[in-house]
Amino acid sequence: MASLSISTLFLLLLFATSSPAEAQQPYVNNRQLDCENRAFDNITNGNTCNGPTSCRSYLTFWSHPPYNTANSIAGLLNVSAAEIQSINNLTTVTATITPRQLVIIPANCSCSGAGFYQHNATYRISRHETYFSVANDTYQALSTCQAMISQNSYGEKNLVPGSDLLVPLRCACPTVNQTAAGFNYLLTYLVSQGDSVSTIADMFRSTTDAVLDGNELKSSDLIYFFTPLSVPLRTEPTRIVTSPSPPPPVATPPQSPPVEPPGSSSSHKWVFVGIGIGAGLLLLISLFALFFFFYKRRSKPEQNKLTDSSTKHSVLTTTPPQWSIDLSKSSDTFGLKSAIESLTIYRFHDLQSATSNFSEENKIKGSVYRATINGDDAAVKVIKGDVSSSEISLLKKLNHSNIIRLSGFCIREGTSYLVYEYSENGSIGDWLHSSDKKRTLTWKQRVEIARDIAEALDYLHNYVTPPHIHKNLESTNILLDSNFRAKISNFGVARILDDGDLDLQLTRHVEGTQGYLAPEYVENGVITPKLDVFAFGVVVLELLSGKEVVTIQKEKGEEEVEMLCKEIKNVLGGENVREKLKAFMDPSLENEYPLELAYTMAQLAKSCVAPDLNSRPSIAQVLTKLLMIVSSSMDWEPSHDLLHDSGSLGD
Ligand SMILES: *[C@@H]1O[C@H](CO)[C@@H](O)[C@H](O)[C@H]1NC(C)=O
Ligand SMILES: *[C@@H]1O[C@H](CO)[C@@H](O)[C@H](O)[C@H]1NC(C)=O
Ligand SMILES: *[C@@H]1O[C@H](CO)[C@@H](O)[C@H](O)[C@H]1NC(C)=O
Ligand SMILES: *[C@@H]1O[C@H](CO)[C@@H](O)[C@H](O)[C@H]1NC(C)=O
Ligand SMILES: *[C@@H]1O[C@H](CO)[C@@H](O)[C@H](O)[C@H]1NC(C)=O
Ligand SMILES: *[C@@H]1O[C@H](CO)[C@@H](O)[C@H](O)[C@H]1NC(C)=O
Ligand SMILES: *[C@@H]1O[C@H](CO)[C@@H](O)[C@H](O)[C@H]1NC(C)=O
Repeated sequence: MASLSISTLFLLLLFATSSPAEAQQPYVNNRQLDCENRAFDNITNGNTCNGPTSCRSYLTFWSHPPYNTANSIAGLLNVSAAEIQSINNLTTVTATITPRQLVIIPANCSCSGAGFYQHNATYRISRHETYFSVANDTYQALSTCQAMISQNSYGEKNLVPGSDLLVPLRCACPTVNQTAAGFNYLLTYLVSQGDSVSTIADMFRSTTDAVLDGNELKSSDLIYFFTPLSVPLRTEPTRIVTSPSPPPPVATPPQSPPVEPPGSSSSHKWVFVGIGIGAGLLLLISLFALFFFFYKRRSKPEQNKLTDSSTKHSVLTTTPPQWSIDLSKSSDTFGLKSAIESLTIYRFHDLQSATSNFSEENKIKGSVYRATINGDDAAVKVIKGDVSSSEISLLKKLNHSNIIRLSGFCIREGTSYLVYEYSENGSIGDWLHSSDKKRTLTWKQRVEIARDIAEALDYLHNYVTPPHIHKNLESTNILLDSNFRAKISNFGVARILDDGDLDLQLTRHVEGTQGYLAPEYVENGVITPKLDVFAFGVVVLELLSGKEVVTIQKEKGEEEVEMLCKEIKNVLGGENVREKLKAFMDPSLENEYPLELAYTMAQLAKSCVAPDLNSRPSIAQVLTKLLMIVSSSMDWEPSHDLLHDSGSLGD
């Protein structure tokens, strides 16, 4: 069940008229996913005390074994089992409650020393658990990892079975204004599938305005699954009979992508904090543990002159014809001795016949030819002149499914022929920028491609010794195999990170493609892994928008160069973000994408193309977020599958 990802957890708040501006408690807005982030402690740690120091309040809990009797739930939440029994009309405190039934829990709420309303419970760690799993899974988001971390002395790593944790459950007491409006109790409700603010208000006989106001929400804001919402009540709640039975707190497909609320005016700020915000938690921690650099002496990078930007290539499975060559001789000439061992050395005439003598029909692009070797497709890249061995020795060393594989080569009369695996589906540049509308990548393919590229870069930056920087990442270098798995290619200008205590190198030759180049590189020739992060951000923007990285606009006779990496700032800034983002997205997606994930992805891309390299995330951080986006996207279904569901959204 926990495999369900959070993207399924978003909901839309639809409709409702204007809300009065007497704010009560800010909505947690999915920030509870971002355990590492302390910036919103004032919201994630609990509801601020802004009313009486203690009061009676209510929590809700979805019955779920082993917590499916009044007794077991009372033990978990430190409340009275008898009260649960009576309020939910249960026969005994040990009677089994139907799974997925919403149980109302009366709880005393009081102001903590730190100024937050909470109800204290105690939980004993019994197996391998984290603050996040306790807060989200066991306590069904009634608490947050941030609140737990701040009130317990155990570090995340010291959570051993037997540790007793204080679990501050989110509750609140009504403010003077709420009391004046007749609301005497606040109930903490866990948003579930099919909910909107108005259905929640109806369920508890509250009003939409009161719920919006009580959570500082606007009618156009989003609410998310597994986030607590504070529901102001006029009278004590009674047993909720949900019919048809509500979807479980776990599970279920997502709602339709965000829809513009009918009444929302353009001045409504569209709150849009997606799943992305650093929700990676454990993964992030473990990636960071592995995140270190080796600095090794750089090997003659100035030899790199391979500016041929296209390499398209292939899967080669059978053993190609081999031919023994004089290793000592070729290594003298090309410095290839160490590179050669694992590669196949091809005979020139075999490559000639495999490519129909390098005919035009076999040409893929530039100096890359399609070859058929023993019935298998391959790509042969021809490099003339003074060729460095760096691409060969690098590719030979790399072993990653998202990096194009070099299977062998041939050297003849000062020309190198590099044989690569073949990528049936060409480059993502071909897909994104082709005018053929029938050929388009789906949303899922796009997020997986982004993930693949990040995996490859993470490998290059953090797992290869010495670490490498690709330096020339662009959409024409990213190839797709028959399953649309992305593979990065063209390592002609890849650089080994230099030694020394700075992960920084300088170069006098700026090479690469405009639009993908980070400003510090263009201006000062600074080379760091953040160069790849920048280019990656640009590629993600291409994946989102389908736009060219550089376009020339003619305005009043003046030519203006527009760069995708600059455009995104306008899209995500200011007013009407939602409309601007929709307009930015690739029209060939035909709106078949989850807008909130697109937003998270666009935010990620924007952070990658930050002008200041220090504010860009590392590729490991990028990958963590992408994994969340991918898993969320896998749960998302195109709208036509949702059509019959949407009737039940009720709105
Ligand atoms: C209560 O309402 C008044 C007037 O509507 C407003 O000025 C005040 O800020 C509100 N107080 C709180 C705590 O929201
Ligand atoms: C909480 O803290 C953040 C960051 O410090 C701030 O931007 C925000 O306004 C605060 N919210 C409330 C409700 O105090
Ligand atoms: C809650 O508080 C009331 C009095 O304010 C008290 O009588 C009751 O026992 C408390 N309930 C629990 C479960 O502590
Ligand atoms: C409580 O349950 C009993 C039988 O289990 C039923 O007769 C009664 O109507 C229920 N009361 C409410 C308020 O649901
Ligand atoms: C709950 O725990 C907090 C933090 O330890 C403490 O400040 C508060 O007084 C406790 N509340 C009750 C009712 O014991
Ligand atoms: C249970 O809640 C009461 C307040 O209702 C609090 O005084 C007590 O410390 C809590 N017990 C545990 C074990 O947290
Ligand atoms: C939070 O818990 C729910 C219910 O167990 C689960 O479906 C969801 O995936 C969890 N969220 C995360 C981010 O693990």
